Amino acid sequence: AGRRRARLLELNREAARFYYQMLQQKEGEAVADYLSRRRITRATAVRFGLGASLDEWDALTRAMGKKGYTKTELLAAGLAVQGKNGGIYDKFRNRLMFPVIDVRGDVVAFGGRVLDHSEPKYMNTSETAVYSKRRVLYGLNLAKKTKRPNIILCEGNIDVVMLHQAGFDNAVASMGTALTVEQTRLLSRYTKELVLCYDNDGAGKVATERALQILNNSEFSVRVLQLPRRLDNGEYVKQDADDFIKFQGKDAFERLLSGSENGMEFRMAQVAAKYDLNDDTARVAYSEEISALLSTLSNAVEREVYAVRAAETARISPEAMRSEVQRALKRRL
Ligand code: UTP
Ligand code: MN
Ligand code: MN
Ligand code: MN
Ligand code: MN
Repeated sequence: AGRRRARLLELNREAARFYYQMLQQKEGEAVADYLSRRRITRATAVRFGLGASLDEWDALTRAMGKKGYTKTELLAAGLAVQGKNGGIYDKFRNRLMFPVIDVRGDVVAFGGRVLDHSEPKYMNTSETAVYSKRRVLYGLNLAKKTKRPNIILCEGNIDVVMLHQAGFDNAVASMGTALTVEQTRLLSRYTKELVLCYDNDGAGKVATERALQILNNSEFSVRVLQLPRRLDNGEYVKQDADDFIKFQGKDAFERLLSGSENGMEFRMAQVAAKYDLNDDTARVAYSEEISALLSTLSNAVEREVYAVRAAETARISPEAMRSEVQRALKRRL
């Protein structure tokens, strides 16, 4: 089994080299143009080992075949898919290729982005003998070497690439999926300070809340970097880290980073935003929801600090808020 794993990793590395070489050549021109439209420099592309899959059915399959890799191996690596006539063809075609490299430096998977607006926007390697997506974070192979004190978690491959290019070499991405416990264990080897920087759309909000739940009572201190909406032709539009860097620049991002609030403050503000605190019924309902939230904290000092804060928000006495939190705590036991 070890031999088979080694062989798959070797194949992935050869594939990454192939995609990379195609990007340097005439064949990869469309992808190179796409990179420049996305403002990704040559140096950044090299640092991330970005590549180009070609607009052909079997460019990779043929090249790897010449190197002695079998159909079975290409299928097992998730680089090819089974055709109807018993043949196989390339899984990734005409896409910007992102090799996914784990903290040991092994190429374990790929992500591929289309060059236009067709669907699916991204394709990723499915689970293989060498790839378990819940155990990998895109960019951590580079971010683990950062001199910054924290790690920034964002959603997408391009966000990571763009943040690194702007000097935030501590960015990683969960590639659109929810943060897992396995990923937090991996992160804890390198830092105890996380900054969540998901897209400021509905999906990003949900992802932030889920991540905060996973990280609640953990060894990490967690902050939330909220990207503002951007005014575009008189309309506020959603944006992600890549968009923000492109339109507002890295100094503005640095300011958001240093001004980001901690996870519990963020969650409390989310709750407060749901209620009209001038209305008495709403103040009661707010206090209930906040008490339930604070009762999830295992640290009594934290419960006290935030209970006082919440009492101010609801304009009730701290005693009343404390006793509600105590009641909520008992309900949980
Ligand atoms: P987003 O939809 O936010 O895409 O998905 P993006 O990263 O901003 O993409 P650009 O800027 O248009 O290129 C975030 C991440 O979710 C994964 C990808 O890893 C993507 O980077 N994703 C998204 C998929 O795996 N498949 C999809 O179809 C879409
Ligand atoms: Mn998104
Ligand atoms: Mn984006
Ligand atoms: Mn996005
Ligand atoms: Mn986009």
